[in-house]
Amino acid sequence: MSTAAEQIGLGAYPSEWRHRHLLGLEELSADEITLILDKAEVFKRAILQGHRRIPLLNDITCVTLFFENSTRTRISFSLAARRLGADSIDFSASTSSLSKGETVIDTAKNIEAMGTDVVIVRHRTPGTPHLLAQNLRASVVNAGDGPHEHPTQGLLDIMTIRERRGHVEGLTVALVGDIAHSRTARSNIWGLKKLGAHVIVCGPSTLVSPRWKELGVEYSWSLDEILPRVDVLNLLRIQFERQYGRPFPSVREYAHLYAMNAERLAKTKDDILILAPGPINRGVELTPDVADGSHSAILEQVTNGVAVRMAVLWLLSGAARDKR
Ligand code: CP
Repeated sequence: MSTAAEQIGLGAYPSEWRHRHLLGLEELSADEITLILDKAEVFKRAILQGHRRIPLLNDITCVTLFFENSTRTRISFSLAARRLGADSIDFSASTSSLSKGETVIDTAKNIEAMGTDVVIVRHRTPGTPHLLAQNLRASVVNAGDGPHEHPTQGLLDIMTIRERRGHVEGLTVALVGDIAHSRTARSNIWGLKKLGAHVIVCGPSTLVSPRWKELGVEYSWSLDEILPRVDVLNLLRIQFERQYGRPFPSVREYAHLYAMNAERLAKTKDDILILAPGPINRGVELTPDVADGSHSAILEQVTNGVAVRMAVLWLLSGAARDKR
């Protein structure tokens, strides 16, 4: 009788995978990123073929420990865990004992003491997942730490690019918008650079500093100037909740200079690919006709998010079992 892994063509658990946690794409090699993407493609194909349950993680319990709001990341991690047969528990900060003064580490340790193998954490403070990784036996996945990293978002963005374009190496990818506060930007930069893409960060000078060049990327303050030479546009949300001052006079003026609309689309390459990590602000980063148009892969990104998170949970499960 064939195993679940054999039935979907997943292959044996890769002995070369050595990570206990997924804290950022900065720490992964190009081969490791490619391994995750390859496995995610297998999981996506299996789901499309009708495999709604792939019982590879029946003995694993995951908890989503989110201290910031989420729609896509939390639901897709829960769904990914359940599709793999794992137990998935959601922690809600607003109804928890945090209000009684319990610390994040104590909260996580108590949840771990109930028999949790994988902790998926989102927190507004950069480094929180790293802190938990130092204090827990469980595997820790960074689901977004302030403006620092959002590795599974970076992976699903890159998976979508690779799927649509067949490759990543040699492409020019522009990240447009609130680069200063974007964890998605940082994870995309690490991942895309490692896979050989040229990356441009573009936005107002209050949100895009020339210091980004230190990460090996080009910077631009003019979307109209870079449009003709980009293959992929990833339109990042203005994170009003993380701003200390006003980065531009008004949303209308931001949209005038940086919103992707039909007029700007006409200046791009014929096969331009439009991405946005979501949530999107229609009329600010992009207009509805672009968001819902033929160049947009925004909902494919969301679909790929489940497959990427299945691959990540499956790969980390080896370490989770070893640590029991
Ligand atoms: N892209 C993303 O992280 O979306 P959520 O905040 O809804 O999880």
